[in-house]
Amino acid sequence: MIANSAFSDFMHFFRSWLSNPLRVAAIAPSGDSLARIMTSEIAALDGPIIELGPGTGVFTRALLARGISECDLTLIEYGPEFIGSLQKRFPDARVLQMDAGHLAQANIFEGEPVGAVVSGLPLLSMSPRKIASILAGAFVYMRAGGAFYQFTYGPRCPVPRPILDRLGLKATRIGGTVRNLPPASVYRISRRRPLELSRERFKFRSSGVDMEIAAEADD
Ligand SMILES: C[S@@+](CC[C@H](N)C(=O)[O-])C[C@H]1O[C@@H](n2cnc3c(N)ncnc32)[C@H](O)[C@@H]1O
Repeated sequence: MIANSAFSDFMHFFRSWLSNPLRVAAIAPSGDSLARIMTSEIAALDGPIIELGPGTGVFTRALLARGISECDLTLIEYGPEFIGSLQKRFPDARVLQMDAGHLAQANIFEGEPVGAVVSGLPLLSMSPRKIASILAGAFVYMRAGGAFYQFTYGPRCPVPRPILDRLGLKATRIGGTVRNLPPASVYRISRRRPLELSRERFKFRSSGVDMEIAAEADD
């Protein structure tokens, strides 16, 4: 039964990758080992939690296994092909079909209630501008001490250093696994100083990042 559902998830994911390789950016869902590392620092009392790019829900299941209540989960997925199965599997979670780059404008929470953001987004295939919007938008909702967890198949943090600097963030590698296809590392991205970002500063800071990136590209 479990093997059947893992196989059907694999086929679902693989077909999505075939039709949209840049957006899905992996041929198979993440493995349990990576899901454990991605959620290892998150505890039951950290809710609400935002998950970006849940796909078939590997990290969602790991969050539930760590005691997060399903009704504390907001799942943000752009791919329409994943929405129905996410709603069916996690009926008490809030599932939103939207681009994670529009988080700040979407007003999905009042204030800064979120304890953690778990991201399965393919940042390596996104533009610096898009990455900056996603990070800035996520931290609009993040309470003091909260963190953004991101995995990557690359050798370093997938958020470029100028973006981290401009947003007042720092990245720390918290682990990695070779028991994943392909092997992956996990980064915790957090504020250098608590409450560095506010909704008012978001626009200014995003445009600052754009200017910096544009200046680098001109060199
Ligand atoms: C590499 S897959 C990861 C899926 C799942 N988290 C896992 O680890 O198996 C990337 C996921 O991000 C979604 N995605 C890509 N771009 C997105 C965006 N701009 N906003 C929201 N979701 C996006 C894709 O549809 C896909 O579900």
